[in-house]
Amino acid sequence: MKTFVIIPSAGSGSRMKSSLPKQFIKIKGKEILAHTLEKFQNASLVNSIVISTRRDFIKKIELIVKRYNFTKVFDIVVGGKERQDSVYSAIKAIPADDKDLICVHDAVRPFITSEEIDQLIKFAKRKKAVLAAKRAVDTIKIGSLIVESTLDRNKIWIVQTPQIFSYGILIKAFEKAYNENFIGTDESSLVERLGSDIYFYELQSDNRKITIPYDLKYAKIFFE
Ligand code: C5P
Repeated sequence: MKTFVIIPSAGSGSRMKSSLPKQFIKIKGKEILAHTLEKFQNASLVNSIVISTRRDFIKKIELIVKRYNFTKVFDIVVGGKERQDSVYSAIKAIPADDKDLICVHDAVRPFITSEEIDQLIKFAKRKKAVLAAKRAVDTIKIGSLIVESTLDRNKIWIVQTPQIFSYGILIKAFEKAYNENFIGTDESSLVERLGSDIYFYELQSDNRKITIPYDLKYAKIFFE
């Protein structure tokens, strides 16, 4: 059973208010994408990595892969309009068997550790469908301007990436989503529509997504 990793990296990062897409912003002299790739390169259970990006970023990413000798990267494909489209074009480039695992991780989550990646993959080898998540520590309420209701905090998970599924499950979920014109913001929301069981994996490490300028300040301190 092999494990293929998909790194969707086709976003333009409009919330960062920077002309350079956030995956290319440097922290401690190294692009955020390179920090992320390094974690997967060094995870012993990862076999191969495919990066999905915009056509005009391909050269830039080829240079990063070469400079840091990311030998597990076997392909860089052109992504799409939505994150889901970017992940799908990578899935189509992977020569996987149904039982192989596909692990999707945002380019802009560089704090994950190689140890936790290996633990997630080990868990996914048993469960077939696994999400990296954190338990909610704050109270979560629903509403727009005024409070409508309060959720039961004991059942709330904040879901992140990596998300890992067997290839057979994932490809079926994507085909169903496209047939039904469904667009989701993560892989799990597509797999949930198949009715398969998906397991939470409680992450220990910090794994925030670099989204707004404050996250960059945090990242600089984190990588000190
Ligand atoms: O926009 P968001 O923060 O949700 O992006 C999460 C990840 O998905 C980022 O790594 C981004 O580059 C990627 N993405 C993509 N294709 C898109 C939009 C986002 O690969 N069309």
